[in-house]
Amino acid sequence: MTSPVVELRDERIGARGLRLFLKRDDLVHPDLPGNKWRKLKHNLAPAREHGTVLTFGGAYSNHLRATAAAGRMFGFATIGIIRGEEHRPLNETLAYAERMGMRLGYLDRASYRRKREPDVLAALRERWGDFHLLPEGGSNAAAVRGCAELGAELGVFDIACCPCGTGGTLAGLAAGLAPGRRALGFSVLKGGFLDAEVERLQRETYGGRRGSWRVEHGFHFGGYARRTGELDAFADAFADRHGIVLDRVYVAKMMSGIFTLAGRGVFPAGTRIVAVVTG
Ligand SMILES: Cc1ncc(COP(=O)(O)O)c(C=O)c1O
Repeated sequence: MTSPVVELRDERIGARGLRLFLKRDDLVHPDLPGNKWRKLKHNLAPAREHGTVLTFGGAYSNHLRATAAAGRMFGFATIGIIRGEEHRPLNETLAYAERMGMRLGYLDRASYRRKREPDVLAALRERWGDFHLLPEGGSNAAAVRGCAELGAELGVFDIACCPCGTGGTLAGLAAGLAPGRRALGFSVLKGGFLDAEVERLQRETYGGRRGSWRVEHGFHFGGYARRTGELDAFADAFADRHGIVLDRVYVAKMMSGIFTLAGRGVFPAGTRIVAVVTG
């Protein structure tokens, strides 16, 4: 499954002497789009071996959705642990996950923050039995290795951009780049802790930092899943002009960041930028 790379023609980019390409990973699979497929790919074998996967997410998590779909497609049971209380009727994301056979559980916010700690995991094993654990956002070493495969598919460019939530996509993308190329991640979260997370994931996967990368913190538009009029206007205009509807939790924030940085003259003329459309 290789997704296309297409050039985006836009005078705001061209006027700066830049070229912008889109890596359309969103087209890779209807139920496992973009970085979801990259991150799950190398987790499928251990998941099937174990028979059951348990993972975490917010009530609107694309990752929970994709894990539920993967369980149904590849034959393993799935448990989704959701941050906060249960709300019925389920929203569209969770209703879909349940239809795919995912069993849903809930953790109060304080316990959810401690979800990597042994006592919280022990209580989950007590409640749900044994499972293969997938961290929040699916970001583990296997996911990072899957995202590293992206680097090789990107063609000729200087800077590769992706949106960042848990940091796994950037950790892998940066590690997979050929020498001389750089990765730039756009954080969709408020608070500058993602650099440490990307570094931690690279250490877990490769034993140390890999590739040339940086996290840009100026384009979270208020924080996770928050939107502003400016972001909506950018995404609406982008859809009108290019016929591509951008996911607003992640991809629109990255794209708006790229256009803004280009407008500020941050990228030298001649730079070829590829933006990964992760979902
Ligand atoms: C569409 C999309 N783009 C980007 C990301 C961020 O990826 P990561 O959590 O690996 O930083 C996510 C979340 O997994 C996502 O759903």
